[in-house]
Amino acid sequence: MNIIKRVRLKNFRCHDEFDLDCDRPVTLIIGENGSGKTSVLEAIYMALRGKSFKAVDRDIKRHEADFFRAEIDLYDARKIIIRYSEQPLRKEFEIDEKKTTRLPKKNRYPVVLFEPNNIYLIESSPSRRRDYFDELYKQINDGYTVILGKYNKALKQRNDLLKLETVTKDDLFSWNILCAQYGVKLREFRNETIKKINKYITENYQSIAKNDDRCSIKYTGKNISENEYLKELEDCFNKDRALGYTTFGVHRDDYEFMFNGKNADGSASRGEMRSIILALKFIEAKILEQETGLKPVVLLDDIFSELDEMRQKHLIFNFKDYQMVITSTNVPADMQVNKNL
Ligand SMILES: Nc1ncnc2c1ncn2[C@@H]1O[C@H](COP(=O)(O)OP(=O)(O)O)[C@@H](O)[C@H]1O
Ligand SMILES: [Mg+2]
Repeated sequence: MNIIKRVRLKNFRCHDEFDLDCDRPVTLIIGENGSGKTSVLEAIYMALRGKSFKAVDRDIKRHEADFFRAEIDLYDARKIIIRYSEQPLRKEFEIDEKKTTRLPKKNRYPVVLFEPNNIYLIESSPSRRRDYFDELYKQINDGYTVILGKYNKALKQRNDLLKLETVTKDDLFSWNILCAQYGVKLREFRNETIKKINKYITENYQSIAKNDDRCSIKYTGKNISENEYLKELEDCFNKDRALGYTTFGVHRDDYEFMFNGKNADGSASRGEMRSIILALKFIEAKILEQETGLKPVVLLDDIFSELDEMRQKHLIFNFKDYQMVITSTNVPADMQVNKNL
């Protein structure tokens, strides 16, 4: 079950040198705020996903140093080394003595990351929600990452043209076609995944909240044909030209969390929203496992302070089949600590 065996860091954020054994199913890192707990999860995430969830390499390198290194030993005997230096500027992943500038797709491994601000997903901005779900889709299917990249390129071209005084409908035609082609595919993938999540979310929620409340996620982007999508884009021309950007498409779609038939934002209490997100996290692990055939590593960053004891216990119990690395400022009940910072 364990994937990560050991984490060693050099000049990584505030860590000069850092060494952590992950030889138990649950690794607990305890330390004050600012002691470098999240940074350890960041290093693990980079080794498994190829990039940080919060920053670029130059922010990660310890301020006084001119390089950083992260060495992550896995239980399957692989060792992943991430090196970054500034003079000369160089970044590389080394896996079993093979060096690459990016983490190869075949070496990526699924991760469920639970951050404190995830608790506020329901009330946050549409773009936060889009980014959140996009990260999940990317982990489920590399193809999603590729198509989203192409869509964003086409959208940028369309938006650049819309900023020109002289732009005509015809100028946009080829970009409309590309936006429609990729947009339809992205919507299909999103709808399909949200449907899978909805299959389990109420059941999961009820086991946390111990009542009969129902929840689901509504994705606002309907599955339509490429022609219909194209027509929507063309119909927006005057509005888009006046505003200077594209008002229709997957980059504007949103997710509504529904609670007993109403939007949870406005109808559910804080505690209920926390339980909905907790349920969503468990389903993420389940779907990632189903789709990739791999048991995701679960990284829980400082979320115990956000959850009451009942939800804390539920969290540990539900992820018991996965390797967990948990950070906290205090030791949760009944748990042993691997590392104090
Ligand atoms: N590149 C860096 N070099 C040195 N220190 C850094 C760097 N980036 C962040 N820090 C410091 O590291 C600490 C944050 O580490 P973090 O892992 O977020 O701690 P925690 O999660 O325990 O609160 C902060 O004190 C921050 O100022
Ligand atoms: Mg932190």
